[in-house]
Amino acid sequence: MIQLFQPLTLREVTLPNRIAVSPMCQYSARDGLANDWHLVHLGSRASGGAGLILFEATAVSPEGRISPQCLGLWNDQQIEPLRRINRFLDSQGAVPGIQLAHAGRKAGCWRPWDAQRGSVPLEQGGWIPRAPSALAFDEQHHTPEAMSSAQIATLIGDFARATERALAAGFRVIELHAAHGYLLHQFLSPLSNQRCDAYGGSFENRTRLLREVTQAVRAVMPEGIPLLVRLSATDWLEGGWCEAETVAISAQLKDLGVDLIDVSSGGLAPSAQIPVGPGYQTRFAERVRREAGIATGAVGLITEPAQAEHILRTEQADLVLLARELLRDPNWPLHAAEALGHCMAWPAQYVRAARRDTPFRELLVELD
Ligand SMILES: Cc1cc2nc3c(=O)[nH]c(=O)nc-3n(C[C@H](O)[C@H](O)[C@H](O)COP(=O)(O)O)c2cc1C
Repeated sequence: MIQLFQPLTLREVTLPNRIAVSPMCQYSARDGLANDWHLVHLGSRASGGAGLILFEATAVSPEGRISPQCLGLWNDQQIEPLRRINRFLDSQGAVPGIQLAHAGRKAGCWRPWDAQRGSVPLEQGGWIPRAPSALAFDEQHHTPEAMSSAQIATLIGDFARATERALAAGFRVIELHAAHGYLLHQFLSPLSNQRCDAYGGSFENRTRLLREVTQAVRAVMPEGIPLLVRLSATDWLEGGWCEAETVAISAQLKDLGVDLIDVSSGGLAPSAQIPVGPGYQTRFAERVRREAGIATGAVGLITEPAQAEHILRTEQADLVLLARELLRDPNWPLHAAEALGHCMAWPAQYVRAARRDTPFRELLVELD
């Protein structure tokens, strides 16, 4: 039995297989609204067979966008364009999920293909970001404003309201982005959080915001809908957030109603030295799964069907998330099924044409 194609049930939601589209910013929205690009980008991965489609980091407030072109869910107008995409994903048998995010000190940046790097200047539509402490990501980024306790309370409410809108838009999985050096991760790491109040200092204090956001979000979610949290298992930096802390917070999140930890790493500071290689983060997923006793997702340079199957078979994770390989090949799940000898139906529209063994002369007849 091929594990990659076994369903995964989280609460009342069953993913048809263990392959997820990892969240990927498209920097293609106006005013946070999803559009045809998002429909085609995500829709093609759904028709390609992915079981879970996680939408890109979607900002809970305008100043929480990574770039001015990121998706948002801070107002009700943003619901319907997402609902339209979700209807299509549903029609393909994929489960739509959304990653809710606030970029903190990494907000308001240029898109990767822009000529400039770092923060967009204020006169060109940028803004001063908010973060736990007034510490810039690097010299190309604006120095953030340290958040007041009132701003923290507003932020928690923003996550809850965005969750309600996500549910109204038909999402059946919610993921909180607490990784890659964005706001919730900035609170976790002692390198970016130097607060002296209840949200800084000890492990208990640095993790408080993530717990409070999780509680606020879980409180507005129906029992049957799963909640995921993406964590960076380590900052890869001396004195930074570390693996043991990831295990400890994962166990706490489980008790607060989180169903799966999506285990990534890094992103907090540009100086981190990351030993990137095939499956380089998978061992973190395995450790969280084993020590915190919670389901995990493995991500990072998973490209080969046999590699993905091995991760599941050796119980390192319950789900594999792929990003760049699914950009190269939106039909990766269908190709993986072929490679692993699992029978998986191509979309009816493609089924004969896409089969390599359909005799060419038959195709010619059909093409007439
Ligand atoms: C274009 C692009 C955009 C990304 N945007 C996000 C994002 O919105 N949220 C997130 O958590 N990770 C984001 N990532 C990271 C991916 O989800 C994934 O963790 C990373 O690319 C490693 O997986 P891979 O080796 O399969 O690409 C992005 C990656 C790419 C390539």
